[in-house]
Amino acid sequence: MILITGGAGFIGGNFVLDWLAQSEEPVINLDKLTYAGNLENLASLQGDARHVFVQGDIGDGALVARLLAEHRPRAVINFAAESHVDRSI
Ligand SMILES: NC(=O)c1ccc[n+]([C@@H]2O[C@H](COP(=O)([O-])OP(=O)(O)OC[C@H]3O[C@@H](n4cnc5c(N)ncnc54)[C@H](O)[C@@H]3O)[C@@H](O)[C@H]2O)c1
Repeated sequence: MILITGGAGFIGGNFVLDWLAQSEEPVINLDKLTYAGNLENLASLQGDARHVFVQGDIGDGALVARLLAEHRPRAVINFAAESHVDRSI
């Protein structure tokens, strides 16, 4: 199990799709779904038990602690940010 943050964004979404195309190791995807997040990026994973989506903020310490305790991911990869490339362009 790995924990991805910002996995509904541009890079995180592609990372999740790429990861699950190559690996059976499941992913928890923690994303706040700000203006930059879009679950449509992950539509092809609907019904895939390897992808657990959680809507929430990485600043929410209690939520992050709960996810770490519950899923015990071996790695955390952080893509959560307010840097939507389309908007910056
Ligand atoms: N896109 C690029 O070309 C590029 C290049 C170099 C580095 N980066 C860096 O990679 C990271 C991701 O970039 P991106 O283009 O995928 O960004 P993005 O804006 O497309 O996606 C960011 C995602 O993070 C989520 N998010 C924002 N704040 C959050 C929070 N507090 N808690 C949980 N989720 C939150 C958003 O809902 C969104 O899904 C950023 O740190 C960015 O600076 C991006």
